[in-house]
Amino acid sequence: MSIPGEHDDSVQNQPGIRDNEQEMEMVNHDDFWSRKQSAAVLKHAVLGNYLTPFVAMTAGERSDYRAWYVDAYAGPGEYAAEDGEKEGQPGSPIVALGTARSLAEKTPPRDLQCVFIEQDPAHAQTLSAVVQRSAARRKARVIQGAAQSELTGVIAAMGKDPALTFLDPYGTALPYSLMRDVILGRDAKANEVLLNLNITTLWRIGGILGSGRKLTAADQKTVDLLDVFLGESSWRDVFLSTFRRGVPGSAATAALAVAEHFRDCVKRDTGYESFAIDVRKAPGHAPIFQLTLFYRSGYAAYKFADAASHGHEQWREFNMRTEARKNGVLFADALLAEDFSEESFAAEFKTTEDKLHLDLVRTIEANIRDLMLTRTRVALNSDADIKAVYGEALGIGREKHLRAAWDSLAKQGVVQPRVKSAKMHHARIERFGTAPALR
Ligand SMILES: C[S@@+](CC[C@H](N)C(=O)[O-])C[C@H]1O[C@@H](n2cnc3c(N)ncnc32)[C@H](O)[C@@H]1O
Repeated sequence: MSIPGEHDDSVQNQPGIRDNEQEMEMVNHDDFWSRKQSAAVLKHAVLGNYLTPFVAMTAGERSDYRAWYVDAYAGPGEYAAEDGEKEGQPGSPIVALGTARSLAEKTPPRDLQCVFIEQDPAHAQTLSAVVQRSAARRKARVIQGAAQSELTGVIAAMGKDPALTFLDPYGTALPYSLMRDVILGRDAKANEVLLNLNITTLWRIGGILGSGRKLTAADQKTVDLLDVFLGESSWRDVFLSTFRRGVPGSAATAALAVAEHFRDCVKRDTGYESFAIDVRKAPGHAPIFQLTLFYRSGYAAYKFADAASHGHEQWREFNMRTEARKNGVLFADALLAEDFSEESFAAEFKTTEDKLHLDLVRTIEANIRDLMLTRTRVALNSDADIKAVYGEALGIGREKHLRAAWDSLAKQGVVQPRVKSAKMHHARIERFGTAPALR
């Protein structure tokens, strides 16, 4: 299946990815806030699309319909305003406050309490001002301080309420022990962590180890810091056994292996499952982040897959628009270039999306058919089953593709028809007939 901007690239063959440190993804923290980049478009779209179902799933009578969102590396709340705009694009705190506002209007109203922690005093001040402009300001608390010092108190104040903690640092985040014991170790039934794992940091630091040169004291300190974040030094062997010096893309591949190893360690230590979404700068590039959800409920996997899919659709549109502008084919003034108006852009986008829709349905259909060779049913609230059902389409496809695939297979007599009035995330897909008949 070919997915525009997603699975059409191989990390091994990235022309733009070198293991040489100068050519690595270097983050200029001032530039970061000057304009929302493609990676942030995906991040905020996924966050915005997941928070609502998270609260709907978890904030019930037992918690007085209350849930918490903790943004531990909150940033200033908005990007710099661009020419002609009064306000900048929203950062993660404002995305969350928008959700808090719409949840408060639901029946029964859901109370999403937002806590924003930001270390940088200037960012924290801007954030406080931005929050004050929000209609949901009463739902927000801004703390100027370091995540590693503030989180323990914030988490204690939440009691056993449902909570989603977002960790979005520039590089490495808090010590692993804090994430394991204090955040994931909370005594709460509904508790999730969304970590924006910085893959470029892993490949840059892994690259120091793999360079073959004698480590300086500063190198040693950097490498040791990664041990603290990842919780142990076993990542070093994982990196070095994958990394091939001088082979383009090898550091990125090794970093992705370290990320997978990290998720396995979290599962081993806490029992939390994980779902990682690759975040790329642009189609065809290696992932620079993995937006990773840690959770215990299979419903979370189902809903996060949907949020990722919606996020990717917004990301594809953003990239296609950026590309069109770069090539000078998207003019606001249709008189200048009638053929390349907003309408023609929308039509072109729809054509590629329609094609993708068919590919996704076909992929999911093939996966379910394969599963039915050895199974009599799959449960859509099971983490393993939902990942197997989506397979290669995980994070790209969503409920509408799954429904179409299921209906098509029911028509072919492979599975039982679905009960159209039932919620999909509670559903089971049951085999119809015997496995050999499916071949
Ligand atoms: C990648 S930015 C956050 C972006 C934000 N989540 C968004 O999506 O709009 C990381 C932020 O973390 C802040 N920061 C860095 N170290 C921190 C720490 N130890 N505790 C809290 N904030 C920190 C930085 O000042 C920066 O504003």
